Amino acid sequence: MAVTILAIESSCDDTSVAVVRDGHVLSNLIATQEIHMAYGGVVPELASRAHQANIVPVTHQAMHKAGIKAEDVDAVAFTRGPGLLGSLLVGSSFAKGFALAQDIPLIEVNHLQAHVMAHFILDENGKNRIPSFPFLCLLVSGGHTRIIVMKSYLEMEVIGNTIDDAAGEAFDKCGKVMGFPYPAGPLIDKMASLGDKNAFSFARPSVKGLDFSFSGLKTSFLYFLRDRIKENPDFIENNKADLCASLQNVIVSILIGKLAKASVQTGIREIGIAGGVSANSGLRIGMTEEAENRRWNLFIPEFRYTTDNAAMIGITGYYKFLRGEFSDHTVVPLARF
Ligand code: KG4
Ligand code: ZN
Repeated sequence: MAVTILAIESSCDDTSVAVVRDGHVLSNLIATQEIHMAYGGVVPELASRAHQANIVPVTHQAMHKAGIKAEDVDAVAFTRGPGLLGSLLVGSSFAKGFALAQDIPLIEVNHLQAHVMAHFILDENGKNRIPSFPFLCLLVSGGHTRIIVMKSYLEMEVIGNTIDDAAGEAFDKCGKVMGFPYPAGPLIDKMASLGDKNAFSFARPSVKGLDFSFSGLKTSFLYFLRDRIKENPDFIENNKADLCASLQNVIVSILIGKLAKASVQTGIREIGIAGGVSANSGLRIGMTEEAENRRWNLFIPEFRYTTDNAAMIGITGYYKFLRGEFSDHTVVPLARF
């Protein structure tokens, strides 16, 4: 019998609802909140209110697109955390209400685990490659930078972590200094394609083991600009593409360097990237080159499954459903998970 999961993602500023049946995505809709652009970052209270306005219509559309009715849903999966509490509350309350009304199981999902699980989404024909275990995955999102070993479905071990800022934060904060609106990552990526990646060099942190640090890079970038602007007030405007390309180059090379180290240490060559920053073209190209040199079996997610989306919550919910891992209705969202 087919298993149909309704999945809700509301951890940050995107309201997303998906319908996943037996590992295939029937629909995956995302309402992006543009209101935050003007503030240079996500404003939690505004995000929560926008989720409240979006959640019902987006769910309706996702179910309509999937061609299903409420009675066809076998379980509701939702993001329990980590994320903004006010945002998580909207998704989790809605998921509870839906599950209660339909008398079906409720499944909590860890957002970070879901980013990695996006690699196991099946395409329409079910013929796409999916990783085998053990699988080594670099998770790079707005708030997290981690190296994860996946031993089986849902069984993950973190072997590397950031000691301060995440890679996505480095993109966003450095972008803000250059005057980009939030989130700056995608804009830097676009600009970088027009610039010279070797034009400028910035301090590379030396962090032991498999951990990362990006806060020194941000400071080095800031001081570099401050000094250059003293000589030429138009320095940023005159060098934007080269600045973006050079910044992206250093971030990407730090990420790939650590992942390569992790592969050597663990002996795993089944390798992937996940999370919002895995949409970055420099990282995707760099990973492809590295994989050829090192004979990795590489997995790069489709663009639509890199940044926040409910399909990844649905695929994780599906595997939890198969294991009978359900939550009761006293479950509360967690800002840190
Ligand atoms: O995974 P995600 O959508 O949300 C979190 O769970 O945090 O990641 C968002 C992050 C932001 O920092 C954004 O700037 C970054 O992903 N990002 C990118 C690109 N697209 C999104 N960074 C660099 N290049 C991109 N193309
Ligand atoms: Zn995310």
